[in-house]
Amino acid sequence: MKIIVDTPEALARFAAERYVTLLNKKPDAVIGLATGSTPLGLYRELQRLCAEKKLSFAKATSFNLDEYVGLSGDHDQSYRYFMDHNLFQGIDIDPKKTFVPSGLGDIAKNAEEYEDMIGLAGGIDLQLLGLGQNGHIGFNEPGTPLNSPTHEIELTENTRMANARFFASPDEVPTHAISMGIRTVMNAKSVILIALGENKADAVAKSVKGPIDLSVPAAVLQLHPDVTFYLDEAAASRL
Ligand code: GLP
Repeated sequence: MKIIVDTPEALARFAAERYVTLLNKKPDAVIGLATGSTPLGLYRELQRLCAEKKLSFAKATSFNLDEYVGLSGDHDQSYRYFMDHNLFQGIDIDPKKTFVPSGLGDIAKNAEEYEDMIGLAGGIDLQLLGLGQNGHIGFNEPGTPLNSPTHEIELTENTRMANARFFASPDEVPTHAISMGIRTVMNAKSVILIALGENKADAVAKSVKGPIDLSVPAAVLQLHPDVTFYLDEAAASRL
């Protein structure tokens, strides 16, 4: 399903409704979260709804999609730092129930443990995704096998350059990341993908109606039984 809105604020409101519906029905739901600039409006909306007591994450558990390899959680470009500052500190979630993969130490072991933790939590009820300009989801770059669990990934130059704006210099962008795999994402009961702006239009079109092959990781979502794309008109312009 595709929901096309005219402003980023409307997108945030529509997507936030999904959390209200889910958490009303299942207060201890497991939510999968994403980083990037696209979710920021949604996260502000979730914080507003929490402040107004229209939404509570008090019993929820969260798992983030990915993390840079080599950055500790107090590095201001780590995804743990991003989540703490842009969402968790402004909602009533128990910080002990917010999980972000660790990009430090033995990455293969961290990845395996992350999959186990998701399984123990009962699986992800609602997975949020942004979209890379090359169609990546999480950090699953083109070529990632469809049956991949959480794993280490070498970032493409395209992705490193797209994310370089957040770092002091492009050389500081990590070369590797740990990410939920495509299988992990596909196992979520429901998926929402949000995309804003013309620079996502090509990836959106290929994801929604392109062939399902490894060159556009998000295209596999066509096989998911419950996925919704929330798009602005620019992101939807090539559909
Ligand atoms: C990073 C993240 C992705 C995110 C993408 C798009 O690569 N790993 O999960 O979807 O950025 O980011 P933005 O929303 O800033 O365009």
